[in-house]
Amino acid sequence: MPELNSYEIVADYLLRATQYRPVIGIICGSGLSGLSKSLKNPVTIQYHDIPGFPEATVPGHSGELVFGTMDGIEVVCMRGRFHYYEGNDMSKVVLPVRAMRLIGVKLLVVTNAAGALNKSYKVGDIVVIQDHFGTPLIAGNHPLRGINDDLLGPRFPSVSDAYDTRLQSIIVKCARDIGISDYIRENGTYCYVSGPAYESRAESKFLRSIGGDCVGMSTIPEVITAKHCGMKILGLSFMTNKVIIEQSDGPPASHQEVLEAVEKSGIHVENLVKAFITKNNLQSILAEVPKLEYKSKSKCPVKNHTVFGFAVTSYMLLALYAFAQNKA
Ligand code: HPA
Repeated sequence: MPELNSYEIVADYLLRATQYRPVIGIICGSGLSGLSKSLKNPVTIQYHDIPGFPEATVPGHSGELVFGTMDGIEVVCMRGRFHYYEGNDMSKVVLPVRAMRLIGVKLLVVTNAAGALNKSYKVGDIVVIQDHFGTPLIAGNHPLRGINDDLLGPRFPSVSDAYDTRLQSIIVKCARDIGISDYIRENGTYCYVSGPAYESRAESKFLRSIGGDCVGMSTIPEVITAKHCGMKILGLSFMTNKVIIEQSDGPPASHQEVLEAVEKSGIHVENLVKAFITKNNLQSILAEVPKLEYKSKSKCPVKNHTVFGFAVTSYMLLALYAFAQNKA
C-alpha cells in the first residue's frame, strides 16, 4: 500500500468516525468556539483521538471537532486551531484544512482574534478580511512548501483572489440584518505574524505602513491551504486590542486583554456566522466548488473509548459469571 499523507490518514479516520459529510468548515478563533453549541445533533471528536492531530495548547482554545447541522446544512467546527508558535510545523498547522477538503468541505469560515493597527478600529469590531500580508510566508515559511499533491490543487495557486467578494457582501448584509452593522469593518487587510510575542512598535509601524489594518498569529496558513485546494473562503477578524505603535498609545498587549474582549462581545462573531449559514442560500456558491474525488485509502481503526469500555466491561462480567458458575 502506498504511504499515506497525514491529511489522508485524518480524513480516513473522520470518514469512519462519523456519518456527517460537512460542506462548511468553521475554524473558531481564541474564545470564539461557542458557535459549535448551535449545531444540531452534534458529534464531538477529541483532537487527541484523531491520528496525527496535535493538541491545542493555548488557553481559550479547546481541542475538539464538532460535527452537526445548521438549518439542515452539514457543518464541522474546529474548537481550537494549531499555531506555528506552539511548535507545529506548517504542515501540521494546515492539516485539518486539507482533511476537511478530503471529507467534502467546500467553504471555509475562519475567525480569529487580532490586534487593531487601523486607528479608526475599536475593540469589539469585526473585520471582514479582503486581503492579507503573510510576513513569515514571504520569508520562506510557507504552508505549500514541499511536494505538491495535484489531487488537492496546483503547484502555483493564486491567492490574490482568496477571499470571495460575494461572501464578504453577504456577511455585511447579515450584520445589518442582525443589527450589528456598527461593529463591521469592511475590506480589512490582516497581517500574519508567527508570534508568540506581540509585535514591537517598529514592527507594528511597518505593518500599518504597508496597508495592514489588523495583526494576528493565525489564519493565513489555513486560508492559503484552503485556496490551494479550491475552497471558498470567508475570513472574520475580531478586534481584541489596539496595537501599540507609539508608547503613548496605551498599555502593552496581553492575552488576558484578548480573552476579556472576546468574553465581552465575541458573541457577535458567533451570531454573525450563524446568520451567514442559516439565513442565506449559499447553495449556488457551494455548487461552484467541485467535489474532490477522494477514496478512503486506509483501514485506520476508530479509537472509540465507549466501544472499548463496553468490550472490557462485558468481558469482566462474563468472567465473573463463569467464576460464579464454577463455584455453584
Ligand atoms: N498581535 C498579534 N496577535 C494578536 C493581537 C496582537 O495585537 N491581538 C490578538 N492576537
